[in-house]
Parts: sequence; C-alpha cells; structure tokens
Amino acid sequence: MDDHRRTELHKTVYLKDYQPPDWLVDTVDLRFDLDEKATTVRSILTVRSNHDTGRGMRPFVLNGRRLTLNVLKQDGRPLDKARYRVDDEALSFTPSSAKFVLEIETVIDPSANTELTGLYLSSGNFCTQCEAEGFRRITYYPDRPDVLARFTTTIAANKKYPVLLSNGNLTGSGDLVDGRHFATWHDPFPKPAYLFALIAGDLARVQDRFTTMSRRPIDLNIFVQHHNRDKCTHAMESLKQSMKWDEEAYGREYDLDTFMIVAVDDFNMGAMENKGLNVFNSKYVLARPETATDSDYQGIMGVVAHEYFHNWSGDRVTCRDWFQLSLKEGFTVFRDQQFMEDMTSPGVQRISDVAVLRNSQFREDAGPMAHPVRPDSYVEINNFYTLTVYNKGAEVIRMMRTLLGPAGFRKGTDLYFSRHDGQAVTTDDFVRAMEDANSVDLAQFKLWYSQAGTPELSVTRSYDANAGTYTLTVSQSCPPTPGQPDKKPMHIPLAIGLLGKNGGELDLKLDSGSKEGSKSLVLELRKPQESFTFVDIPAEPVPSLLRHFSAPVKVKLDLTDEERLLLMAHDPDEFNRWDAGQQYAAKLILELVQDVQDGKPLALDNRFIDAFRITLESGMKDKSFQAFALSMPAETYLADFMEIIDPSAIHEARRFVQETLAAVLKQPLLAVYSAHQDPGPYRIDQESIGRRSLKNMALAYLSLLEDGDVCDLCLRQFRGGGNMTDVLAALINLANNECHERDDALAMFYGTWKSDPLIMDKWFAIQAASRLSNTLGTVKKLLHHPAFNIKNPNRVRALIGSFASNAVRFHDPSGAGYAFIAEQVIAIDAMNPQIAARLVSAFTLWKRYDAKRQSLMRGQLERILSTPSLSKDVHEIVTKSLV
Ligand code: BES
Ligand code: ZN
Repeated sequence: MDDHRRTELHKTVYLKDYQPPDWLVDTVDLRFDLDEKATTVRSILTVRSNHDTGRGMRPFVLNGRRLTLNVLKQDGRPLDKARYRVDDEALSFTPSSAKFVLEIETVIDPSANTELTGLYLSSGNFCTQCEAEGFRRITYYPDRPDVLARFTTTIAANKKYPVLLSNGNLTGSGDLVDGRHFATWHDPFPKPAYLFALIAGDLARVQDRFTTMSRRPIDLNIFVQHHNRDKCTHAMESLKQSMKWDEEAYGREYDLDTFMIVAVDDFNMGAMENKGLNVFNSKYVLARPETATDSDYQGIMGVVAHEYFHNWSGDRVTCRDWFQLSLKEGFTVFRDQQFMEDMTSPGVQRISDVAVLRNSQFREDAGPMAHPVRPDSYVEINNFYTLTVYNKGAEVIRMMRTLLGPAGFRKGTDLYFSRHDGQAVTTDDFVRAMEDANSVDLAQFKLWYSQAGTPELSVTRSYDANAGTYTLTVSQSCPPTPGQPDKKPMHIPLAIGLLGKNGGELDLKLDSGSKEGSKSLVLELRKPQESFTFVDIPAEPVPSLLRHFSAPVKVKLDLTDEERLLLMAHDPDEFNRWDAGQQYAAKLILELVQDVQDGKPLALDNRFIDAFRITLESGMKDKSFQAFALSMPAETYLADFMEIIDPSAIHEARRFVQETLAAVLKQPLLAVYSAHQDPGPYRIDQESIGRRSLKNMALAYLSLLEDGDVCDLCLRQFRGGGNMTDVLAALINLANNECHERDDALAMFYGTWKSDPLIMDKWFAIQAASRLSNTLGTVKKLLHHPAFNIKNPNRVRALIGSFASNAVRFHDPSGAGYAFIAEQVIAIDAMNPQIAARLVSAFTLWKRYDAKRQSLMRGQLERILSTPSLSKDVHEIVTKSLV
C-alpha cells in the first residue's frame, strides 16, 4: 500500500474538529432476513435537516463498510446513480428536501465475519456488536453517537433459530412461509446506532422478575445455550441486586418492560450495554461452584452491574462523540466499584481497584500511548477503550465525590440525569451539572480530563516542638506525555490523617482555621507547592497520606520502616494500612533487585519477616484483607520504580522474598492453611471467600518451597476440592513447580473439563502463565491443541495473552518470547484487529528496558509494521510506539 493510501485509511480524528450532524434520523425501521451467508437488511429512515433551511442543503453522509447495496430510494423513488457516491467507508448524497424518507437495502455475509463486530455468528447463533462503529457493517447509517433515533426491528429467520431478540419491547411475532418465522421489537427510547443489538438462535431462557420502586414489574431474562441453563443463578441475583442498588444509590429506575442478557462464547470484550438487550461474553454470566472461582463470581457481579448501570449512564444519557467515552465508561466503572464496595468489603474492593490502576494504568500513562481521560485525537477508536479512559476516568468521578461530599455529588448526578435525559453530551456537561448543583467552580479540576500522565506529589514534613505545630509541604508535578510537554498544576484532593506514636489518631486543626475538628480531612491542592500547618500537635506524628487513595497520583514521602510498621498496625484507613505494608515490601524488594544486579548475596531484613509473621498470625476478622496484606507488590508495579526495567532481576528478588518468608514461616503458614479449611458445604458469602483466599495465599507461599509434602498438599487439595477456587489455586501451584505431580494434575483437569470452554481457558492460561523455563515451548505446542481456536478471543487471551503478561518468560533475554508474540499479532490481525491490537500493546514500553531488549522488541515492532495490509488498529499502536 502506498503512503498516500495509508494516510487516507489511517486518518487522525480530532476533538477540535467536532461538528454537529447535518442530518438527524427520527425513526429507523429495520427488517433483517437472516441467512448465514447472505443476510438482507432493509432499512427505512425518516430523516430531517439539523439546520435552518436557506443556506442550501448539505450532504448526508451514511457510514458503511463491506456492504452490498441493492436498493437506495428517497421518498419511494430510486436515487439516480449520478446523485450519490459510494466508497469503502461511506455513502453520501445531497438530499433534495429538508425532510424525507430514505430506503436502503444491503446484503451482508455474517459467516465471513471474523472481526466480531457488526452481525456475526457465534456457536451457530446470530449476534451483533455495534460499539463503537460496528453498525456501519450492517447497513448504511450515520454511525455516530450524536444521532439518536427510535428503532423498530423485525427479524425474520428459519425456525431453527427459535429465539429472535432485539432492543425494547416485543410488539409482534408469527409464522412466515418456508419454515421461517419473525419477531418485531420496538424501542421507544431514542438511541444511537452503537446501542443496537440483534440475537437469533436456539437458546434456553432463564426467567425472573423485578418490581421497581414505583411498583412496575419487569421481566428479567437470561438467554444461554441449553447446556448452560443451570449456570445463571448468580448472574440473575447480581442483576436484581444491581437494579435495587441503582434505585437506592442514584434514584435510577429501570424503564422498559423487559431486561435481557444473552451469553455468547465469541466476544471481543467483557459485555455490552445494548438498550434492554445486554450481550455478554459467557465468561461473565456462567457460574456454578464446581466450574467458577470466587473471583469469577465477583467478576460476574461487577460486569452485570456495570452493563445494567449503563442503562442510565450511557443509554438514557449518551456520548456526543467518542472523545467523550469516559463520560459513560469512567462514570459507570465508578458506579460498579461503589456497588461492589457495598456488596462486598469496601476496603478490600478499594485495594483491588487501586491495584489495577497502579499496576497497569500507571504504565499506560507513562508510555507512548499515554492520553488524557478525554483524548483529543485518535486513529482507531477501539484503541481508546483503555485503563485511562475507564479506570482513571472512574478515579476522576470519585475525586469529584470526595470534593463535593456524598450529598453534593448526588445532587450533581440528579441534575445531570434530569438535565440531559435523551441527549448525547460531553464530559464538560457532566462537570457543569456538578458545578451548578453545588455552586462550585471546577475549572481547574477539569484538567484531569485534558492532561495525560500520572501526577507526582513530593511531601516533606517538619515538626516544631515549641510551637506544637506540624507542617506538610506538598509539591506537585506531572511528567511530559506525547504532545503535552508542559503540565499545569491540578486540583487534587489529598485525604490525610495524623497518627500519634501510640497509634492513636490526632485531632486535625489547620492554622488557617479553614478546616478542623475531625481526625481525617481532605486537603485541596491547587498550586505547584503548598504548605499546610496543623496546630496543637503534642508530639511528632506519623502522617497517613492519600487515604482511600483519594487521587490517582504517586506520592513520594520518606517514611522510616518504623513509621510504616506503625501505619500497618494502626491506621484506621484500611487502604493505607494495606499500602504501608506494600510500600515497605516494595522498598525492600527494590533494594534486593539492586543486589541481584550487583551479584551480591541476598538477605531479607528480620523486621520485615516479623511484621509478616504478625500479619499472618493476627487472625483478622476480614480474611480477604489479611490475604491482601500478605501479598507482595506486583512485578509490574515494582517495574514502575525502575529507570531501566530488569524483569529477570525483579522476578528473582520478589521470589527470593517470598521463598524466604515461606522457609522461615513454614509452620505458621501450615497452621493458617489448616485452620481455614471450609467447615461445611461450599458457600460464596464474604466470610467464606475470605477464608479461601487466606488459605490459598498460605498454600501459594508454601508451594514455593518445592518440597514433596507441600506438593502432596496441593495435590490433595486439587483432588478433593469440591469448588473451582480451591482446585485452581492448587493447580496453579503445581503448574509452577517442576514436581512429578504437575503433568498428572494438568492431564486430569483436562480430562474432567475438556468440554467446558471457560474451564479450558483456565487450563490454557495456567500453563502459559507458568514461571517454568520451558513455558514458551509448552505454549507453542498448545497452539496446535484441538481445544485451541485462534478465532475465539477468550482462548487467545487465555493462551497467548497470558504468555504476553508472563513478564519473565515474555522478556526472556533470547528474544524468543518477543518473536512469538509478534508472529501471533500478525496472524490474529488478519482475522480480528481489535484482539491483535490488545496483544501488540505488550511491546509499547520497549524503551524502558535495557539496550539489548530494546533492540529485540523494536525489531519485532518493525517486523509487524512491515506486514502487508496491517489493520489500522495495530498500525496506530505500533507507529506511536516507534516514535
Ligand atoms: N461498552 C463496553 C463494551 C465495549 C467496549 C464494546 C468497546 C465494544 C467496544 C462495556 O460497557 C464495557 O465497558 N465492558 C467492559 C467491562 C466493564 C465491567 C468494565 C469490558 O467489556 O471489558
Ligand atoms: Zn462500560
């Protein structure tokens, strides 16, 4: 492809170029005649101009990709070929009146659709995925989120597809000739095309009911393949809890007569919030104790809630353009996090949400793809469904709640929903609702939407014993990111407390008198450097900063080990109690990394071992918290602190710490392990989940000892575990060991579960994530395993994705891991660019590694780039990485 053609195809879209649509669509009447190879789509649009007449007619642009156009009529008359233009991307013409009816007929081939966007087949059933720009693969349409229309959809299909679903309420159904039948659905709520969905297949229906706060009965339905009908209970319970929670927490009531969830095996993402008809990756629906782990159960609850919450934050109020993606995604992630905090344990939920941010989003924000929560340009929008837009976006919403308080925040969301119901709006509109409802100015705060990069806070402290005052001086800065060399100071909520030497909390009183009286308060940073002086402080305290992780920033503060130990033991803020331990461990591991690099012998500080022992033997009430407190910081988090990342040394140092703890504390670990066996039948309440995670944490440490009796223990748990959590925990340990039980256990697991695709994903993932040195060889062999299917995204993520995240093996100094992933990116890109683009992101941080790895990774990026007809998805990431 020549350069000119490529830049045409790979055009950058800019937020500053946004123009409102010239033409609006009021109603869409769709008729699908489903056929695996040739589906006919007839569409009747009522269209009107979005401008006052007089200035002449502007062209009407309808996006369309890989469509065969059969019919095009304006007000019943075929449009002359000379009057319209069609190319690979769009159909356009200049209408002759300000209001008209357009009729279009296109033909598409669902069986050839391997990208899994638009209309495709999964396990023999028809399904759709239209976000972000998939509807244009179904028919010609102004496929942009600011065109909202009322959809009526008729689906005609052979009766071997008994279930025919679309958005809204069912308004008609019946028989047709030739063994076919039809169903008609009407969605009364105007929506953009990305929220359209269609499902046709032979599916079982699991039914339930929910009564809303205004006593309206809602029909709830989950559709799955027949053999999965006994795996929907948890998803259904999660749905009912979500519906109730959104009424209580946000005053949001469901609006249609029916709410449907469909589970499909082939899906690029986790799930999709199509109006009234959510389509889910089956991974986030199906669960039974023998088949799903505790974390699968939690994942299901979180994703069901997330997609349900979109009904208001996304569907009723939607995005003006895709730069506003965080308007719906950041807000909805925040809502699902809050929901999970209420349903599980708030502290533990916060810890795991922050872990995602620090272990993964911070990396994104520090690399070549770094972008603001509201990006200002993109080439391929699918590349911007990122941790920044989602998880940092959720933090931005959380900060507003922290600044305005729960009641002020609720006033803001109430105003937002009522003011913008039925509209397509921007993140500025969201913030304006917060400002108007609370009479505050959030102008500086809005930099969180436009500035990329993770801000850094440097904190120094001084205690004046004579005056009894304590001063914290905080400077903020934000590193340069692509296109943003200089940053302005941000408005940052910094939640803090002060602990006395005995661990008690002090009363906080600022000398300015502006805030006082409580034991925890939120300082508002706005300047490059600011000082805060507390009065009536009897002795030098230990500061507890950034409580509850009140802002997505890095904090530099030189606490001593003793101070960290005090916070670990006494900080009432659960998050900081955990984080004090993490920071202490991170400091030690990073020192050991240096020793590894210098070839020095490694030794672990006894005080750290004692602290770990205390946590291990503390018998905390919240066992999930205890398990988190015993875990070591992730390798990716540790890497963030290194100028030049050394994945082998990080792995070795971290493992040395874990092995040492296991060796020294073998007896207490065994004691914790046996004291936390399930006392009765399997249950999935918080207490049982906590017990299992603590027990399995102990077992994971023990398994590092690689001694025979621990392998026996793992094998016994593997064989005897009646639930997948315990079975899998044991199997992971075995898969990381050279012991002879390993292969038997993997074979046995395969034999038991080979017909369950979700469990086969676990089987592939465990092997690809193994730290053993022959892992790459195993993964290559597994590519040819009959259960592997490169067209299925879950399987690709399980085998290839897990290997790419296996830092020691992916970054093997030979470069073999890099070459393997590059080959897979190229192969997958030809079928499914979205999935290939996710995978190629493993290379984006190449400049952070040593010279040898840099050149190996760069070589693979260049090899990918030289592939003919590379997708725009992969092309964008590779070119931005190579800059
Ligand atoms: N709207 C997205 C799904 C989506 C994103 C479809 C991009 C197509 C392209 C959905 O609401 C979502 O965000 N799903 C998440 C899970 C959620 C719990 C964060 C996903 O699919 O990963
Ligand atoms: Zn979402």
